[in-house]
Amino acid sequence: MMKDIKIAPSILSADFSKLGEEVISIDKAGADWVHIDVMDGIFVPNITFGPPVIKSIRNKTKLPFDVHLMITQPERYIEDFVKAGADLIVVHAESTIHLHRVIQQIKSYGVKAGVSLNPSTSPEVLKYIINDIDLVLVMSVNPGFGGQSFIESSIDKIKEIRKMSETIDIEVDGGINDKTIKKCIEAGANVFVAGSYVFGGNYEERIKSLK
Ligand code: DX5
Ligand code: ZN
Repeated sequence: MMKDIKIAPSILSADFSKLGEEVISIDKAGADWVHIDVMDGIFVPNITFGPPVIKSIRNKTKLPFDVHLMITQPERYIEDFVKAGADLIVVHAESTIHLHRVIQQIKSYGVKAGVSLNPSTSPEVLKYIINDIDLVLVMSVNPGFGGQSFIESSIDKIKEIRKMSETIDIEVDGGINDKTIKKCIEAGANVFVAGSYVFGGNYEERIKSLK
């Protein structure tokens, strides 16, 4: 079963001094979701933004907010991100001891739940939770920064996850451009984060070239 391809530009590569306008621009350019990278300087070696910034751009678009939490113990902040306007909350399997519990916590607010895996993490960690979640986010770079190059072993990982579930959304994040996206689609992924690629050119042309 082939799923529709969705493009989620990452605002990590946007101009933060005019974030609201940037969100409006990617919406007009044909984005399907807005990918929002939250980093705490502990789980990853970089710091970005939190709930107040997300809340400030919530009324700029009706597109779903795909909130990627790269923070230690995300269970401490789920409610804050729900209130800020998240439609999907993605937590890292490596960031919490109680992954099952966090997933239930996210779903208790009626928002979608996703789990992300670092490049070195095996999809085996998904075995007992895959039926509880809406999406798996395969990191195809080490999380923390935009503009890194695609790690090839992600392709086999996508294939393995697609074998585990025909229906789940598989999102790929890191080093996605008009070339790397092809291999990921063939492997079974259907949602694509793109930061430096989309924001590094004409937004509409870049999103079209990915689709
Ligand atoms: C990296 C973030 C990504 C990042 C991707 O930690 O999770 O979403 O913005 O950037 P590109 O598309 O430039 O690799
Ligand atoms: Zn991300």
